[in-house]
Amino acid sequence: MTHLPTEFPDFGLTPQQRRQAVRTHYYELPGMDGERGEIWCYTDRFCYRPSETVALHVSATASIFRLAITRDGCTEIKVFEKAGIAARWQDTPDQCSVEGCGWDASFEFRIGDDWPSGAYRITLEADGRDGKPIHCYHLFIVAPQPGKKPGRVLQVAATGTWLAYNTWGGSNHYEGITGANRDQYARMVSTQRPWCRGFVVLPKDAPRVPLEVAVPPKTVPRYPHMEWAFATGHSKKYASSGWASYDSHFLRFAERAGYGVDLASQHELHFSPEILDGYDCVAFVGHDEYWTWEMRDAVDAYVERGGYAARFAGNFMWQTRLEDDGRRQVCYKYKARAEDPAYRGGDVTRATNSWEAPEIGRPGAATFGLNATRGVYAGWGGCAPRGVRGFPVYRPEHWAFTGTGIYYGDVLGADSHIYGYEVDGLDFEIRGGLPYPTATSGAPDGLQVLAVGMASQVEESADVPLKDQFLGDEDGRFTAETLFGEPSDANLDKVKRGSGMIVNFPRGKGEVFHAGSCEWVAGLLRQDAMVECVTKNVLDRYLGKS
Ligand SMILES: [Fe+2]
Repeated sequence: MTHLPTEFPDFGLTPQQRRQAVRTHYYELPGMDGERGEIWCYTDRFCYRPSETVALHVSATASIFRLAITRDGCTEIKVFEKAGIAARWQDTPDQCSVEGCGWDASFEFRIGDDWPSGAYRITLEADGRDGKPIHCYHLFIVAPQPGKKPGRVLQVAATGTWLAYNTWGGSNHYEGITGANRDQYARMVSTQRPWCRGFVVLPKDAPRVPLEVAVPPKTVPRYPHMEWAFATGHSKKYASSGWASYDSHFLRFAERAGYGVDLASQHELHFSPEILDGYDCVAFVGHDEYWTWEMRDAVDAYVERGGYAARFAGNFMWQTRLEDDGRRQVCYKYKARAEDPAYRGGDVTRATNSWEAPEIGRPGAATFGLNATRGVYAGWGGCAPRGVRGFPVYRPEHWAFTGTGIYYGDVLGADSHIYGYEVDGLDFEIRGGLPYPTATSGAPDGLQVLAVGMASQVEESADVPLKDQFLGDEDGRFTAETLFGEPSDANLDKVKRGSGMIVNFPRGKGEVFHAGSCEWVAGLLRQDAMVECVTKNVLDRYLGKS
């Protein structure tokens, strides 16, 4: 066991700045770097096929810029470079997070027929007003050509969640500058804007959300990731979502381990579900919280027909809708019952609420075996900050653990801290020392619970005053109301104790394996041999290699 420090890391902030880092709303907006100048960009879509044309929309204080495009896998391959491209400063609407930036396209390029599927990083560089370079990073995905891909994995990047957390322009599905008082989160977010700072590239020492601190007794929680973001000029949400914090670690691991991996965005699941047909195994990783009805249809049908879905991800929480050909994502979330037109003469099954809202009739467990409303926080704030770190294993004889040497009662991935910061679970009971889903849990038939840890929907502590709680009981009250009609204390008590699980179940001719934790990828990033072994066991079985 690694020995953890007993003090929070220090990024040079004053106590007041530390409070600002956590409590205030800060975000990327044009002009934020002042005299130095800036360059920003976005592409017209998240994802392209070979030979398609990408429109790059650039706004810059400089009149020319340099462009490099690099495939970002276990090795980096530069595929395109060009200097001397003309740019200009473009006006940005105040509500750009919702409406899109509306910048003119500045440059177009064609995806080469020989560019392998994957994630491609765009680096823009120009001269700042002080003569020093200014940069912008963007990412787009190249999806595979249609056809059979024997032996290859299709990874679906959690782009719905990237979009939900993107702070660029001031509003996302969490915080925002919408509404009369400019203090509301955005119910709609646009793809037509740059990614916030830290979604595409991050330094190696950027903290993850789960605490790497042995928290002393009676400690008021601190949030190193937000303090680091504030201190270094990164997005407040850099550790909550994005390619750099999550999806990239699975792709790099899989390529390093010798797997052929293709990449798609969730837009492909929604608009071209036939993309799944070429694959024996489809993988979902990281923080994967926002899905449409159509995306679930695609996965359900694929597994029914004999496909294998491997989910190493947490927080399967919200239904979204896509509008404007996928350029706008809608999620009313906590305000859905009050504001979403789906409740006023629309199709209420498409309401942008939690999947477990009874009126939707489609709990998350029906697709991936676990529910976000029965899981949630672990390893940070006032939610199990001294919790398990890994998955407590109950069924070590399961095929997923072959070759790990793991025992009943061992904790999988504790050193690499794979358990947190949001996890998915089920209501369960222990019989004869083994966990089983309860009869009313909504678990699919034949579901086996391989591992279970504890999680919490609320921060409750006699030692932490309400003003120092970041999460409080808001999410727990919402879950109580969503599931049981009223956010009462009695209903809160029914939902506040959650769990995080690894489960496996058959469906039709296929199968689902689900390790329900955002942080599984931390085990791949930190090269935890046991976590790598379980991941390979799942991929090998689903690719027909074992
Ligand atoms: Fe989340």
